[in-house]
Amino acid sequence: MSLLAELERVAAAVERRLDRLLAKPGERPEDKRLGEAMRYAALSGGKRLRPLLLVESARLFGVKDEEALPAATALECIHCYSLAHDDLPAMDDDAVRRSRPALHIAFDEATAILAGDALLTLAFEILSEDGTHPDPAIRAELVLLLARAAGWRGMAQGQALDLSPERQSFTPSEIAAMQALKTGALFRFACEAGAALGRAGLPERAALIAYASSFGQAFQLADDLLDAEGDAAALGKAVAKDASRGKATLLARLGPDMARQRLDELVVEAEQALAPFGPRADVLKELARFTAARRA
Ligand code: IPE
Ligand code: IPE
Ligand code: MG
Ligand code: MG
Ligand code: MG
Repeated sequence: MSLLAELERVAAAVERRLDRLLAKPGERPEDKRLGEAMRYAALSGGKRLRPLLLVESARLFGVKDEEALPAATALECIHCYSLAHDDLPAMDDDAVRRSRPALHIAFDEATAILAGDALLTLAFEILSEDGTHPDPAIRAELVLLLARAAGWRGMAQGQALDLSPERQSFTPSEIAAMQALKTGALFRFACEAGAALGRAGLPERAALIAYASSFGQAFQLADDLLDAEGDAAALGKAVAKDASRGKATLLARLGPDMARQRLDELVVEAEQALAPFGPRADVLKELARFTAARRA
């Protein structure tokens, strides 16, 4: 199956699950608002790259898509929460997300904060439920991995560094370390969760973690290049915001030519990391190429 068909199929499956999970926002108007904001944040398009990474990683170990989808849905809840908070005035202050008004514009700031909080906690509710894996030890491992990926030594810390005044003097390796947390941690979880669901051995798990690291760096470099050179309508979010806000990006340090060269190297590194899996990992390899070349 082609990558795009696969992406569409996994995206649709995750969306059906999110739709079911968030089906009953409440009876009275005052009960509905938070649930409706969660639906808005979670069911508003998005490429659903992280769920695909998780499903494809799990498949390497014989895990069926249906068995990987609960964890993939939990991960997408975390990602959608991170975007809702990332756009808040106190953070990146962006008004458009996924071609629609950002959550805090469509609702209000307090509701956007709370909907983010509730999506974050919903992710752990999903991971803890029996349907995520029959073995409670694996469910507990997934909870631990996601807590670490999203928290103060993962994505939240990366976001804090991204917003810190000290970022102006970050060296390229400090920027890479920040991005490994801000963006890389959730990609790593996607791949590691797939390995955990399939009870993968350590060498295979390490290969997937190496892939996720190169993939995450490539993804963020592509995101930064699109911010500088992309089309706002195609991307569904504002562009040219990193430079105007003094964000510390590798693109700003390396310049566009070297950044593109680095992007190509990272894609090769990502593909090479998957060598132990042979052609079974072709979709993951193609996903790395697709992510680096995307225009939207
Ligand atoms: C955007 O992520 C935020 C970053 C981590 C740079 P995506 O580009 O995966 O966003 P959606 O989910 O497709 O909207
Ligand atoms: C967002 O990075 C990363 C997270 C949400 C964790 P960016 O701030 O670069 O993402 P965009 O460009 O707003 O999508
Ligand atoms: Mg940001
Ligand atoms: Mg942002
Ligand atoms: Mg960006």
